[in-house]
Amino acid sequence: MPDLPSVDARKLALSALGEMKRARQPITSVTAYDYPSGRLADEAGIDIVLVGDSAAMTVLGYDSTLPITMDDMVTLTRAVVRSVRRGIVVADMPFGSFQVSDETAVANAICLARDGGADAVKIEGAGPSLSRARAISDAGVPVMGHVGLTPQSVTQLGGYRAQGRTAEAAHRIVDEAGALEAAGCFAVVIEAVPAPVAARITEGLDIPTIGIGAGASCDGQVLVWHDLLGISTGHVPRFVKRYARIGDAIETALRAYVAEVRAGTFPTAQHTYPMPDDERRRFEQGWRRKA
Ligand code: KIV
Repeated sequence: MPDLPSVDARKLALSALGEMKRARQPITSVTAYDYPSGRLADEAGIDIVLVGDSAAMTVLGYDSTLPITMDDMVTLTRAVVRSVRRGIVVADMPFGSFQVSDETAVANAICLARDGGADAVKIEGAGPSLSRARAISDAGVPVMGHVGLTPQSVTQLGGYRAQGRTAEAAHRIVDEAGALEAAGCFAVVIEAVPAPVAARITEGLDIPTIGIGAGASCDGQVLVWHDLLGISTGHVPRFVKRYARIGDAIETALRAYVAEVRAGTFPTAQHTYPMPDDERRRFEQGWRRKA
């Protein structure tokens, strides 16, 4: 196993992300949904730990991101925040928490920052999301945008498929990213968009772009924890690289445990607590007397 790069353990400021873009230093991001995943991500030097609403699917077992609630997101965010020392923790605003009005969006963003402890929030889309982004950032909560494949709009988009593959659609996404920057976002996620389109967005913005399935020209990359580590089941998107097969390792370990418990080979003496002989004798005598 190669040594991890030594990482300055001080908390990253949001402004560091802009400095990284200007210095062409790639920004790293991964999702995390609990204390151990946050800790491991932070120790590996991840710059942005994203508490994604993908937790609806990866952790809670729903078939889309739509059912996850504010309460769920606050609980998961708090767990991650407890373990992250250096990285910036961004919490996704779940479906329904920002669509209705600027006021509810601000109230829910403040809840994720105050009760969840998030450093920033992420909202999907442009259109009405532009005024939400402006309102939330004016209220003092930093906002990250998200364009391209926006999973909360999966029905309108016709499924989990790449976006911006026609010139017209590509121009629309470029314009949306620019509008999110103008609305005060500090960074924007670009998901499942052809690389040349993401490259154009990245060149044109002062804020960093974080790509997922958007090519190597983005200022940073993000992947979903379960995809990166090989824990997810079912369809794996084209843009995922599996860096490990942890799911297989877990399954092998659990099968071995089941087999040993059934065979009576676990636990052995080394897994049990000793008792002094005289205490054991006294215990057994007492036990016999009662029987
Ligand atoms: O919810 C999530 O995991 C995300 C990433 C895919 C960017 O939004």
